[in-house]
Amino acid sequence: MKIYLDNAATTRVDDDVAESVRRVFLESYGNASSLHDVGREAKVELDEARKKIATYLGCDVDEIVFTSGGTESNNLAIRGLAKANPNKKHIVTSVIEHSCVLETCRDLEREGYEVDYLGVDSDGLVNVDDVREKIREDTLLVSVMHVNNEVGTVQPIEEIGRVCRKAGIYFHTDAVQGFLKVNLDLKNVDLMSVSGHKVCAPKGVGFLYIRKDVNISSIITGGGQEGGLRSGTENVPGVVGLAAALDVDFGIEDVRESRDKIVDGLKKIKRVKINGSMGDRVYNNISVSFYGIDGESLMLMLNEDGICVSTGSACAAAKLRGSHVLKAMGVDEMYINGSLRLSLGVDAIGKEEHIVERIGKHVAKLREISPFKFSDENLGGSSTESKGGSHPSNVDGSESKILGGSASLGAGSAELNVDKSEEED
Ligand SMILES: Cc1ncc(COP(=O)(O)O)c(C=O)c1O
Repeated sequence: MKIYLDNAATTRVDDDVAESVRRVFLESYGNASSLHDVGREAKVELDEARKKIATYLGCDVDEIVFTSGGTESNNLAIRGLAKANPNKKHIVTSVIEHSCVLETCRDLEREGYEVDYLGVDSDGLVNVDDVREKIREDTLLVSVMHVNNEVGTVQPIEEIGRVCRKAGIYFHTDAVQGFLKVNLDLKNVDLMSVSGHKVCAPKGVGFLYIRKDVNISSIITGGGQEGGLRSGTENVPGVVGLAAALDVDFGIEDVRESRDKIVDGLKKIKRVKINGSMGDRVYNNISVSFYGIDGESLMLMLNEDGICVSTGSACAAAKLRGSHVLKAMGVDEMYINGSLRLSLGVDAIGKEEHIVERIGKHVAKLREISPFKFSDENLGGSSTESKGGSHPSNVDGSESKILGGSASLGAGSAELNVDKSEEED
């Protein structure tokens, strides 16, 4: 039996959601733009789904633009604002954003935009004062994610929104990992990206919430669907599935308890580090690093046990490379390379001891076969480090050095360091 602990990558579609999608596929299969009865039936499904989501968010139906998912929503937000407001050429974002935000900003930099990438502290959090400091007359937008996909940290979105509102600057948040998991008041948020497949709805559907008074242009031309902002035949089954996901019970409190039990168990392993704030963190995330091992090997060993996790980073034999998020948090390279991300769902409940036991066993094995010589002494002492920024002595007694560029912590912008060799989820 599989134990699936990779819900930040994607989720299994919920049974009731799948049923609602199936119904639309088979019964309301029309093109929502067609004027005959079958088309009108699809349009009713689309309208009802939109209304349900708008009611949930407390917004108007025409503030929801359905898209193909998080990547497209983020592209529409950033490029759409840039296109509609060509006089403003400055963007503020953070170094820990998903690649679909970072690469879009990079692309705009090539077109002449100036982008400030805010660093994070050792807990993986953006500082609101840094946002205040960076915004200026020609700032087009501030884009900071709600929940980080790797370390699960919850960013101070409402405070950042207040700063932006006061300065009259558009504020966008990528809420792909936070939607339905962490409450968010949209009062000072102008645009918000959501993706279906992270919340037990199908892949290939999402939406961008766009406040009514936002000046934005479409980036896809065509038939003018979605109020002209997103041409293309509407994915009615997907949209209905996304609306149905609002009723899914994610078992948040039980999963949080399960997560905390696993964290307590993992902390007993020597030289282990739980990355990111435990307070400002989504209920189902564990980002953990084990000193001196290869996270990818650990992930593959767990896969043999039927336990599906992802690496917080990857370490290729020829080239050390690692998570841009953990680097930005100042985590030591010897930990970064031994990182795992566990993103739990209800199937972790009751299996905590087994999960911890398998991880502990494999970590010990990997340390045994490692070219580094781990003795009890250099693995001993205070084994757990719950904060980033530590630089423990290596097994040979020297200080570990952070390889590659690292983000400057605290105030100001940070050097952007994105690993392009691994696809990100
Ligand atoms: C934070 C974040 N933003 C955006 C995306 C992209 O979403 P999608 O897979 O729907 O394009 C993901 C996941 O891949 C994500 O984790």
